[in-house]
Amino acid sequence: MIWSRSESTLDATPAKTREAPRGSVESHPGKTVEVAGLYKSFVLGRNRERVDVLRDISFDVGSGEFLTLLGPSGSGKSTLLRCIAGLESPDDGVIRIGDESVADKRRFVPPNRRDIGMVFQSYAVWPHMTVSQNVAYPLLNARARSTRRSSMNVDRDVNRTLETVGLGGYGGRGVHELSGGQQQRVALARAIISRSGLLLLDEPLSNLDSKLRREMRHELRQISKEHGLTSIYVTHDQFEALSMSDRILLMRDGRIEQQGEPEAIYGSPDTEFVAGFLGNINLIPARVLERHGSVVIAELSGTGETVRVAIPRNKELNVGEKATLGIRTHDITIQEAAEGGDSSIRDEGAPHDNRLTGRVTSLQFLGERWEVHVQVGDQEVRLFRYRNPDSSEGHLVNVAFAPERAFIFQDRDAPHGAATEPLPPSSTEKRQ
Ligand SMILES: Nc1ncnc2c1ncn2[C@@H]1O[C@H](COP(=O)(O)OP(=O)(O)O)[C@@H](O)[C@H]1O
Ligand SMILES: [Mg+2]
Repeated sequence: MIWSRSESTLDATPAKTREAPRGSVESHPGKTVEVAGLYKSFVLGRNRERVDVLRDISFDVGSGEFLTLLGPSGSGKSTLLRCIAGLESPDDGVIRIGDESVADKRRFVPPNRRDIGMVFQSYAVWPHMTVSQNVAYPLLNARARSTRRSSMNVDRDVNRTLETVGLGGYGGRGVHELSGGQQQRVALARAIISRSGLLLLDEPLSNLDSKLRREMRHELRQISKEHGLTSIYVTHDQFEALSMSDRILLMRDGRIEQQGEPEAIYGSPDTEFVAGFLGNINLIPARVLERHGSVVIAELSGTGETVRVAIPRNKELNVGEKATLGIRTHDITIQEAAEGGDSSIRDEGAPHDNRLTGRVTSLQFLGERWEVHVQVGDQEVRLFRYRNPDSSEGHLVNVAFAPERAFIFQDRDAPHGAATEPLPPSSTEKRQ
């Protein structure tokens, strides 16, 4: 709950950029950000080994864009954000904010000269100050060096900014009297009052309860958009990333695994890692048997079943290769199958859908949906039903999905172990 020294220096914004466009606190020209060829390593552990935490990171952020850095814990998100803030200095690469280079081979601009608003997971508010004093801090701090802003203007700006974050009328309270969500709003108000045009947020909602987190997602994006701010938002939460972002940059082991608009990246994951990170998906080991242009026929391991999968024509995928089938839980339908094998009874799926036959092993009621597990050979298929699944544990069922809704990933994309090298040529000839 306290400012670290480095965090507080972010508030000391150069005075000239803080002059408000006349009559409005709301219009900020969002700053562009460019990151090119960024590397960062840390010396870790007892044997002082140097570990690359960021490797060749390049991306641009447009003015007013809401960009999210998404990835598992340890993937380098915070380090990247801290490099942009100036709290870490990169080993190599260039960072530009607006038209100024803030980090390159010759130059390193310290955080207090980068003109950035920042919000952290810990609320980072001054516990002994009132709400207003907390929010006014960056302005008053800067006023020590510039007398351009009158105290009347400060009061007016503080009150308007508190209104913006939904804390109108709370100015006189001590921050210790506020809930966690309200304290985070204070931190947000303090980050936006300087009109710096660039907001960096590192898991700002992680300490809030889930209902408040959902509400704040929407509000945070709205505030950032209303103010025309450029925002870079760090989270490990796929739902935050999908719901808030103009664009997502998915990170893995210090690299950018894939970037794109939320629906594009969700709809066309390049790798098994991306597919597994976004949404609920079944990942089933498979082998490519045939390929006909944009259609692949694959055998699912341990099931004796083959399926058809539609893939982009230019996607690299070789016959004989080990692969993983990906099929999202909500893209699967389920029907009772007749014992004895006539599985065409009561089929609701399209004629060309893939069908797998198995037994229901579990059926859980989760409120708005049911989660059904079906054992197909050695594999388990999970699916969601939003109507009563009309089935019971032990029943024989057909699960079906359209070839267009399935994904297939080469195993070299697998996050852990598996075949990281392409298979030797001899094995690509093998056919069942
Ligand atoms: N100051 C530091 N010194 C040493 N190692 C660090 C430091 N900061 C981060 N790391 C390491 O860098 C890796 C990435 O960390 P971080 O950027 O915090 O990941 P994320 O925010 O995605 O969880 C982790 O392995 C972490 O332990
Ligand atoms: Mg982090």
